[in-house]
Amino acid sequence: MSIHINAQPFEIAPIVLMPGDPLRAKYIADNFLQNVKQVSGTRNIYFFTGTYKDKPVTVGASGMGCPSIGIYSYELFTEYNVGCIIRIGTCGAYTTGLKLFDLVNVERAFSESTYAQCAFGFPGDHLYHEGKAYAAINATAAALKMELKKGAVHSSDVFYRSTTGTPEFAHKNDCMAVEMEAFALFANAKQLKKSAATLLTVSDIIPTHEQISADEREKALLPMMRLALETVAGM
Ligand code: HPA
Repeated sequence: MSIHINAQPFEIAPIVLMPGDPLRAKYIADNFLQNVKQVSGTRNIYFFTGTYKDKPVTVGASGMGCPSIGIYSYELFTEYNVGCIIRIGTCGAYTTGLKLFDLVNVERAFSESTYAQCAFGFPGDHLYHEGKAYAAINATAAALKMELKKGAVHSSDVFYRSTTGTPEFAHKNDCMAVEMEAFALFANAKQLKKSAATLLTVSDIIPTHEQISADEREKALLPMMRLALETVAGM
């Protein structure tokens, strides 16, 4: 058991899918996995392990923001010998070039976060995905004929700010969308020589204030869940 995950070491699979929301982890476990067991419930951050097409996989939540995903992904990599974490989350599009429900595979995450500098002394304001997961997602999307955008996103430390529209930092770095976790996940994977990717569904368009409605949200995330699970099955 680690400080924040109370699973036994053998109860976590080598590949972990990581939504932000514990109930989304439960939804994936209930609807897509076989032989499922809840293996951790510390702080109601549920982790479930089961199989998808006979491949062992764990699904567990990251919580919100770099500090939270930083804790869970670090403990999974270091105390459960996890080799690969694929974050599956939502993002706000900074550009109308993206549409609601579009899927984005994050090539690199720009951030004002001090996470990577504080934790590992990594300089700079951006980090790339790590290892094979990013390419595996691209290959799986191509095989399934699913459209997938690739590029830079902003891993913001703040959800609410006094300015509207695209922050200067994101504009300068050509970030197509904003989320809040990829940067810390990539930092941990880089430091620990693990694989990490971030797959996102566009849930809101910031310039036009369009949003996926609460009713649509569950169905909206199904293509991303399917792409992530099919990627795992092929890894
Ligand atoms: N900001 C940060 N994270 C997000 C957003 C947003 O607007 N939408 C979905 N995740």
